[in-house]
Amino acid sequence: MANAVEPDPHGEPLLRVDNLSAAYGKIRALHGVSIEVPQAAIVCVLGANGAGKTTLLRALSGLLPVTGGTAIFSGQSIANVPAEQLVPRGVVHVPQGRMVFAQLSVKENLVLGGYTRPAAEVRHDIDRVLGYFPRLKERITSRAGTLSGGEQQMLAIARGLLAKPRLLMLDEPSMGVAPILKDAIFSTLRDIRDQERLTLLIVEQDADIALDISDQGYVIETGRVVMHGPAAELAGNEDIRRAYLGG
Ligand SMILES: Nc1ncnc2c1ncn2[C@@H]1O[C@H](COP(=O)(O)OP(=O)(O)O)[C@@H](O)[C@H]1O
Ligand SMILES: [Mg+2]
Repeated sequence: MANAVEPDPHGEPLLRVDNLSAAYGKIRALHGVSIEVPQAAIVCVLGANGAGKTTLLRALSGLLPVTGGTAIFSGQSIANVPAEQLVPRGVVHVPQGRMVFAQLSVKENLVLGGYTRPAAEVRHDIDRVLGYFPRLKERITSRAGTLSGGEQQMLAIARGLLAKPRLLMLDEPSMGVAPILKDAIFSTLRDIRDQERLTLLIVEQDADIALDISDQGYVIETGRVVMHGPAAELAGNEDIRRAYLGG
């Protein structure tokens, strides 16, 4: 963690996605998506179920082939770079549904998050990351499968942080999380951004909670961006919710 932020004299976003397309075999699921994620910003991509949010994150993290367009991270292409090469470059994905190792302890899950890094560094970072998640610290020896949905989400985020991300991409961190823990998780994400200067790309169906902590927001529908702007502007726009978010 604690990546020094490299000041960018050209003001280039940390991630620039331009006209990106991706497909499941012959079924195209992203149709030319363009987004920018500035350094140390929180950017959310909103959309109803099936809009293409997970597909976008999978395409950006080397889990799904990119069939067109570009994705430039820190000046270098990440399109079709395998996931295991992206993690050491700082592109880290917290998947939908958390995917913690249920049979392993909280501590063991965290150690695995740092598998690409020297063990001594990871040990030091575990203490630091647990500072953001006191509930996890209390349950450090518990098996992950015994945690609540919200606690498992915290664990998935903490595990992602142990990979030392420069860009942390989160797929529906609110899903399956009790309301009170949702707020705790999102405000912690903002604290982490503020304290670590970490850049966050969050895809969410819960527009309110995501826009509340985001700087910029995008709305996607059937694999296309249909709207974007400052999060505060999108948050005040009831038409968006009616038209695109099914709410
Ligand atoms: N493994 C898959 N094979 C074929 N189509 C898929 C697969 N996963 C998702 N899709 C399709 O891609 C589209 C976008 O899905 P997804 O990215 O999961 O949406 P979201 O995350 O926004 O709910 C949907 O039409 C979905 O049916
Ligand atoms: Mg999804």
